[in-house]
Amino acid sequence: MTPRRVMTVVGTRPEAIKLAPLILALSDRPGWEPVVVATAQHREMLDQVFDTFGIRADHDLDLQRPRQTLSEITTRAVAGLDPILAGRRPDLLVVQGDTTTSFAAALVAFYHRVPVGHVEAGLRTGDPLSPYPEEVNRRLTTQLTALHLAPTPVSVANLEREGVDPATILCTGNTVIDALQAAVDLAPDYGDAALDALDATPGRVVLVTVHRRESWGAPNAAGGRALARTAASHPDVTIVVPLHPNPAVRDVILPALGHAPNVVVVDPLPYGGFARLIDRSDLVVTDSGGIQEEAPSRGKPVLVLRDTTERPEAVAAGTVELIGTDEEHVTARIEALLGDTALYERMARAVNPYGDGRATERILAGFRWWFGDGPRPAPFAPPPPR
Ligand code: UD1
Ligand code: UDP
Repeated sequence: MTPRRVMTVVGTRPEAIKLAPLILALSDRPGWEPVVVATAQHREMLDQVFDTFGIRADHDLDLQRPRQTLSEITTRAVAGLDPILAGRRPDLLVVQGDTTTSFAAALVAFYHRVPVGHVEAGLRTGDPLSPYPEEVNRRLTTQLTALHLAPTPVSVANLEREGVDPATILCTGNTVIDALQAAVDLAPDYGDAALDALDATPGRVVLVTVHRRESWGAPNAAGGRALARTAASHPDVTIVVPLHPNPAVRDVILPALGHAPNVVVVDPLPYGGFARLIDRSDLVVTDSGGIQEEAPSRGKPVLVLRDTTERPEAVAAGTVELIGTDEEHVTARIEALLGDTALYERMARAVNPYGDGRATERILAGFRWWFGDGPRPAPFAPPPPR
């Protein structure tokens, strides 16, 4: 049988992490002709993930510019992808999530009448401005998609409510759990010598990441001040901030965080090192999407610096709480988690509503089914809430 040519397009760190297991599986298994395209909407952080998983792009648009605007990335991605789609003519184009790269690649595929498979389809907050622009990117991507690879029953229901044909939706689990398991199995060091001392100290660790566009400016300043206050009132707690390289984030959060000795700011960590840091942490404070999925699976409570989430499953399970970006409230909720053992224990339970580590297998089986080469795979069923 002629191998099926499957083109994956990735631009940012989370897309690369979540598609890495699929890209590796497509190149390991017979019957597939994988083509990997990097827009490099992220440069260093994408290369970090490719290094971790040993992936090489067949095409690289090298898009990233300092302080790039949404319109710039969109137009440059569309212009760069167009000749690649025309030249390679894949049987299926795969995008992941809700970035500008995902939306632009799906649009170009549609223009070339190439069917799109959307991994992590169906996440919704219901608010077009939160997260911005991702909520609209993923809705637009849904309109351009032929095969919807929804991670959970919640995301399947979101798509069905919007009128997507159920026959085109598969419930697969989230590939982030597959990727995280692979990263933990690497058993790497943290990837930054500034963190090595963490293993020799018994003190508690609060892990922090921020990057969302809707939090640039005043919300990030408020979050930074709340963390500085936590550092001052808990000198025994180390606050570790692997900081996104975006100057729009750094310019605001670094002055607000201050220079307390127990606040450790490092550059983005390689994925394996970050996985290890999740395990070393006691509490995670973040506006990240992916970390809302990963930390609960490792039994770590998560306080989310946002007002909405497209990942309600772990909130329902009680391990994730939305705390917004008000300085007083953020300070109070971190204080509560650090001070109230019963509350902490209630939130620090490993839950896996997002996946079981077999999402990649289901997606590959889903591709075979969609091409008419195999049966429709059984859906991912999350464990019942405890
Ligand atoms: C992007 C995605 C967001 C995703 C996030 C993951 C869009 C609109 N946003 O947001 O959905 O959650 O990635 O991190 O698609 N930069 C570097 N080096 C890097 C990466 C970024 O220097 O390796 C800097 C550059 O100055 C760049 C800026 O960060 O201009 C912003 O990058 P961009 O991809 O536009 O936005 P993110 O906030 O990273
Ligand atoms: N991550 C990483 N190194 C870091 C910080 C995060 O490898 O220093 C990983 C993290 O484990 C998760 C992903 O990056 O899988 C999340 O990326 P980000 O928060 O940038 O994007 P989002 O998930 O919000 O789209």
